[in-house]
Amino acid sequence: MDAKLITFPSFGDKSNGLLTFTESCNEIPFDIKRVFWINYTPENTLRGKHAHKLTDLVLVANVGSVEVTVTSKTNLTQTYILNEPNIGLYIPKNHWHTMTFSANSSLLVFASEIYNETDYVRNFDEFLQ
Ligand code: TYD
Repeated sequence: MDAKLITFPSFGDKSNGLLTFTESCNEIPFDIKRVFWINYTPENTLRGKHAHKLTDLVLVANVGSVEVTVTSKTNLTQTYILNEPNIGLYIPKNHWHTMTFSANSSLLVFASEIYNETDYVRNFDEFLQ
């Protein structure tokens, strides 16, 4: 499966408060085993720079804006700007991804597997092989 944007159900609006939710695999195409979030990343810092062998991810820029670049095994690259709290980006396993962050942003990540360093591929040439 390719990377794709997901729209979560939400109530309210930007003037009066927006509540966004997801439950029981309705929007996220896997059982969630792990949730983590990333804050305080400086604007000039490139994060990610890896692929996962088994883990699928969904990323949500909960606050601010996060630019995500996703590269497939066939070296096709697509860039996504996440800047709405009700929009997520599904990144399947075996996809290289990098992220840059706007000031004061927060990235919320749902993962299909618990953390395991052996699940990471951190070398791009090795990833393409
Ligand atoms: P990493 O995934 O390399 O972050 P990024 O690609 O955004 O720079 O993780 C950074 C460190 O945090 C790494 O040493 C592993 C640790 N970590 C965990 O212990 N548990 C987790 O769920 C995650 C995502 C990272």
